[in-house]
Amino acid sequence: MALEIDFQGKNVVVVGGTSGINQGIALGFAELGASVAVASRRPEKVEATVALIEASGARGFGACADVRDFDALSRFFEQAHEALGDFDVLVSGAAGNFPAMVNGMSSNAFKTVVDIDLNGTFNVTRAGYPYLKKPGASVINISAPQAFVPMQAQAHVCAAKAGVDMMTRCLAMEWGGDGIRVNSIVPGPIQGTEGMDRLAPTDKHRAQVCQSVPLQRMGEKQDVAHCAAFLASGLASYISGIVIPVDGGWSTAGVGGMSGTLAAIAQMPR
Ligand code: HXC
Ligand code: NAP
Repeated sequence: MALEIDFQGKNVVVVGGTSGINQGIALGFAELGASVAVASRRPEKVEATVALIEASGARGFGACADVRDFDALSRFFEQAHEALGDFDVLVSGAAGNFPAMVNGMSSNAFKTVVDIDLNGTFNVTRAGYPYLKKPGASVINISAPQAFVPMQAQAHVCAAKAGVDMMTRCLAMEWGGDGIRVNSIVPGPIQGTEGMDRLAPTDKHRAQVCQSVPLQRMGEKQDVAHCAAFLASGLASYISGIVIPVDGGWSTAGVGGMSGTLAAIAQMPR
């Protein structure tokens, strides 16, 4: 059996796709031939990412939008659709995170993370729906192990990402009749990312994380991009409503000592 993943002639949109893991996903699809649109808050990141997409020979489009602003997202999708056409793949990956104990965060700090991660996922999928190819589109929400592994100093992310995975399951049921598949990817600790810079800021913390992963190392952005390409491809045409970890086995053992490490980091000065 020939296994082929080719996105020539396909359109992909990655919201929050201008750095880290999500940018890796956007560039991965561009390398597989797709036209790719990205959005995030900062214009310089949007511009730089569109340049990278185009440098790989693909068509790119980018605009600024904060996932907390439904109207701004709607404008982005309308413009991206005008530029590229119906979307075969929608990735929702914008997120915010900082280590803070519940007693060390304000109501607004908790709300900020829930607004970006969870309400942002609602906004992205709700505003993007009219522009998805029906049947055939694949929606991928980027979750985290916090969705099902409790950690100290992560109550905001744990609550928000658990909600993201339930959105995934509910949307898989609601949109299945349109021929749209909806899945979550749960990256593990991925090296060279903003997330790990915040949660494992020193060599000592990074070594502790590696020891807690069954595969004894952090993952690469490419590992997550490969999973996204598989999930969005015809090879996964009967897969919907699942939450798939790409984490070297990290979450199977409850992420080891990460919770205690984060509690210590949360005591460090901001
Ligand atoms: C306690 C904090 C805090 C901290 C911010 N706040 N940092 N509280 N400890 N370290 C509080 C602020 O005081 C404020 O509350 C509220 O949070 C909102 O802060 P703002 O700076 O006004 O918010 P905003 O400008 O909207 O920025 C959002 C942000 C920021 C989440 C705070 O860090 C951001 O933009 N992050 C995006 C990038 C990111 O986080 N990437 C990593 C994703 S990794 P008050 O009460 O003072 O108003 C990830 C999972 C990794 O998601 C999993 C690894 C396993
Ligand atoms: P990152 O580089 O900070 O990526 C976050 C992206 O979202 C950026 O493009 C950022 O660009 C955008 N963004 C943030 N807030 C936004 C908002 N309010 N509106 C619109 N866009 C916004 O972080 P990362 O570490 O690669 O994480 C990417 C995803 O993977 C997140 O969903 C995270 O929860 C998940 N994850 C990461 C890890 C890890 O090891 N890093 C592990 C598990 C899960 P702007 O700043 O321009 O807005």
